[in-house]
Amino acid sequence: MKKLYVCTTADLPPGGARRLDTSPAIALFNHNGDYYALADLCTHGSASMSEGYIEDDCTVECPVHTAHFCLKTGKALTQPATVDLATFETLVEGDAIYVFVPTGDR
Ligand code: FES
Repeated sequence: MKKLYVCTTADLPPGGARRLDTSPAIALFNHNGDYYALADLCTHGSASMSEGYIEDDCTVECPVHTAHFCLKTGKALTQPATVDLATFETLVEGDAIYVFVPTGDR
């Protein structure tokens, strides 16, 4: 795993999302001051979850076919998605946001 600096907390306000050009691409969300990182590619199709809609119940809605995923667990909660999104650990140090991304190492 690699600790990747993303941005400052001021750069990602509540309700905001950002796509990280990692491999795989990661979507980072701010839900009421808590940061969640999920795989950016929807498990149902070729949609970028960072372009989805953050809901009050800590879910994100896919912008294409409106499947909902839990921001905390990545769980696919509604059809048409049936496969969960991968999740990635986040960390805030001071005002810096980091995501732990896979490196291929074990
Ligand atoms: S592409 Fe996301 S639900 Fe279909």
